[in-house]
Amino acid sequence: MSGSEVTGSVNLEDKSGEPLSLPLISGTVGPDVIDVRKLYGATGHFTYDPGFTSTASCDSAITYIDGDQGVLMHRGYKIEELASKSDFMEVCFLLLKGELPTAEEKAKFTHDITYHTMLHEQLTQFFKGFRRDAHPMSIMVGVVGALSAFYHDSTDINDPKQRMIASYRLIAKMPTIAAMAYKYSVGQPFIYPDNELSYAENFLHMTFSVPAEKYKLSPTVARAMDRIFILHADHEQNASTSTVRLAGSSGANPFACIAAGIACLWGPAHGGANEAVLTMLEEIGSVDRVQEFIAKAKDKNDPFRLMGFGHRVYKNYDPRAKVMQETCYEVLEELGIKDEPMLKLAMELERIALEDEYFIEKKLFPNVDFYSGIILKALGFPTSMFTVLFALARTVGWVAQWNEMMEDPGQKIGRPRQLYTGPGERPFVPVEKR
Ligand code: CMC
Repeated sequence: MSGSEVTGSVNLEDKSGEPLSLPLISGTVGPDVIDVRKLYGATGHFTYDPGFTSTASCDSAITYIDGDQGVLMHRGYKIEELASKSDFMEVCFLLLKGELPTAEEKAKFTHDITYHTMLHEQLTQFFKGFRRDAHPMSIMVGVVGALSAFYHDSTDINDPKQRMIASYRLIAKMPTIAAMAYKYSVGQPFIYPDNELSYAENFLHMTFSVPAEKYKLSPTVARAMDRIFILHADHEQNASTSTVRLAGSSGANPFACIAAGIACLWGPAHGGANEAVLTMLEEIGSVDRVQEFIAKAKDKNDPFRLMGFGHRVYKNYDPRAKVMQETCYEVLEELGIKDEPMLKLAMELERIALEDEYFIEKKLFPNVDFYSGIILKALGFPTSMFTVLFALARTVGWVAQWNEMMEDPGQKIGRPRQLYTGPGERPFVPVEKR
């Protein structure tokens, strides 16, 4: 707390001095919540919880996390099962609509998404307005926000049909936009989507094909890409999802809300961590320097943190990190990359950190970003594209959460309160007297 101090403790009483009892609300699984909505009216106090460490901001039936046990489920299905038995299109359907699709529903959904993959041709001009060395995430924020200027027929947020069209468009067009951001940065021509291909294959094709040479798709690589998308699809009320919800709570259009989510995801404490992990591994350079960096991470006077370690909710191994590690081995083997030094380094870093008292005591485990960078590097993506891939995959989570909020009849504009620590009222002093 800055500029504020603890001045006492409070036994909750209403304004007439009667003990105040607050309602407890139970969900299906997970901790009950204390409903404080009437607290201010009854007591004249607000709750104080910067960073939302003890605050549930909404009801949601999409994703459940048990951070102590290291469990992640979407609509009741465990992430490990979805990653091994399902595919990204099914997971998108599940997140958006609540149930796994039937074969018929899956075919129709995949078809509908596939046929929205092209961009309005004029949108390609947007890319050209950026400097060649622009970070692709800055391009993503700009171009996705600009979609609202191109698809007027899907910006009426009060029309459920338009909301669903906007959702499909966002899921479908994100790989095309991401691939174009990459192509622009390397000075290659844009490659258009190929509707014969699956979602993941299409993205790889648009990213790595050139007009002179078609990219040879490897089923293992496409499967790994698809799995990486599944692992990033949704993660309940994380910072970027909460940003999307907060932006949407004012009635903003979906494309603008997702652009806000992308902006939030970019930070190194969130989606930017996958890029930061690889930068960190490169900086460490060799196994014999691991201890030095562990010591830096533990040093209170050093701002350095072990990137890809720690999580607000997981106080156990992030279940996504386990699947990511397995996928990493598969990909490196398929690509014939033996003894990848980054992988060796990452494994040694993980081993030492997991045995270290500091990391044990603070329950800091590898998170989803720890291994993803190594796979993405092996697939040929530059580090600057890592967070873009996260944004691409998280788009379905963002739109599912946004739709859930828009369908909630009790939805209100998000408007937190504050603990004011500035000056009290004081007289205005004219400029010549200051
Ligand atoms: N390295 C060293 N110390 C750490 C780390 C780390 N990676 N993470 C947390 N700590 C320490 C921190 O210094 C604090 O110590 P103390 O209690 O002595 O002050 C304690 O652990 C708790 O950390 P916190 O910052 O209060 O926890 P938080 O829940 O606010 O932060 C986090 C969570 C993910 C931002 C943080 O763990 C972190 O910065 N990790 C590195 C970045 C990263 O990998 N982010 C990806 C998160 S997963 C994917 C996603 O969300 O996009």
